Amino acid sequence: MSDFDAAAFRQHFPFFSTQPDWIYLDNAATTHKPFAVLEALDHFYRQQNSNVHRGAHQLSQTATILYEDARSCIQQYINAAEPAEIIFTSGTTAAFNQLAFGLMHTLLKAGDRVLISALEHHANIVSWQLHCQRFGVILDVIPLDEQRHLDQVAYQELLKLGPKVVSLTQVSNALGTILPLQQMLLLAKAAGAITIVDGAQGIAWEKPDMQQLAADFYCFSGHKLYGPTGIGVLYGKRTLLEQLTPIFGGGEMIDHVSFTSSSFNSLPARLEAGTPHIAGAIGLAAAIRFLSQFDVTQIKSYKRLLLNTFHNGLQRLPGITVFSPLHDNAGIVTLNLQGEHPADLAALLNEQQIAVRAGKHCAMPLFELLATAGAVRFSFAPYNHISEVEQCLNALTQAVEILAS
Ligand code: ALA
Repeated sequence: MSDFDAAAFRQHFPFFSTQPDWIYLDNAATTHKPFAVLEALDHFYRQQNSNVHRGAHQLSQTATILYEDARSCIQQYINAAEPAEIIFTSGTTAAFNQLAFGLMHTLLKAGDRVLISALEHHANIVSWQLHCQRFGVILDVIPLDEQRHLDQVAYQELLKLGPKVVSLTQVSNALGTILPLQQMLLLAKAAGAITIVDGAQGIAWEKPDMQQLAADFYCFSGHKLYGPTGIGVLYGKRTLLEQLTPIFGGGEMIDHVSFTSSSFNSLPARLEAGTPHIAGAIGLAAAIRFLSQFDVTQIKSYKRLLLNTFHNGLQRLPGITVFSPLHDNAGIVTLNLQGEHPADLAALLNEQQIAVRAGKHCAMPLFELLATAGAVRFSFAPYNHISEVEQCLNALTQAVEILAS
């Protein structure tokens, strides 16, 4: 059992009263938004809309205060040392592209190695590959063991090659696997690497603490945490953020510009070119304030209950291959029905208004290792009811019968 009151939590989300027939199990793709977030966006656009940092008027000053308050709210939530260590981006992917670009142009040189894992999202693969060839940087990958966890022996061997950067996801978006993150980051730090964490899924699993986690950088997207799309965070330690070459130029990121050269502003403006997503930042802060009313430990144990209920129910179904681990899982089950295309199973669930994702989940190399063309992903959030898991299992049972006939 769980002490978490899922029904009370769910009441904060208008989607479920306006669309009562949908069972939404695609939370790893994006989460729904509570009233607090919708109201913050609405209030800003209706009553306070203005640009930040550049207006001579009161509205702009108010927008600037709200935007910088949002930065402080996020700084406090993840326990960063100072607000300037919070860089607003459009999401985790943009954060990774800034990191790869920024590090390749400054700290990395030909022959250096970047170490990622077999569980990474494309954002933590392609953003490096875009530059590896030109800069002569080598990308290494920690393989999976037979249980589809990261092979820790192989990891330690790869660390002996002296990677300059170790960049790991906290939670696999495709399988839900929770990495032994701190242990792996400490090993990376002991090997002298800069450490990066993809917190896109992890941010919805636990509240990270930047004074505890051995991460130099931590990236996440607001929309996985009940905030708006188009806003995300690149957290970094000041000394390292200051060394990143900005990927975008223009707007408030400059100090002085001439036709021959430019110098850059101090943090955080240095890495926030152009008009930022002001309402997005305000909305993300509203999401974090909303979430802070709830107990993260209770939410975790409730998500485990949802997962266990689903896993137990799957045992009744013939021909299902589950790729996700039961333990060390942040609330994602990825599976296939033997001999059937994942898109067909997802389409039958869609007919019953059950929202899931099918395909390779932005992790094509992982699906090559799993030797499958794709899979159907069910991802849970604390507003899902146990009864929805049961309805989903019934719908799966019917789908299995239809596809078998
Ligand atoms: N990265 C998101 C997912 O895993 C979109 O679905």
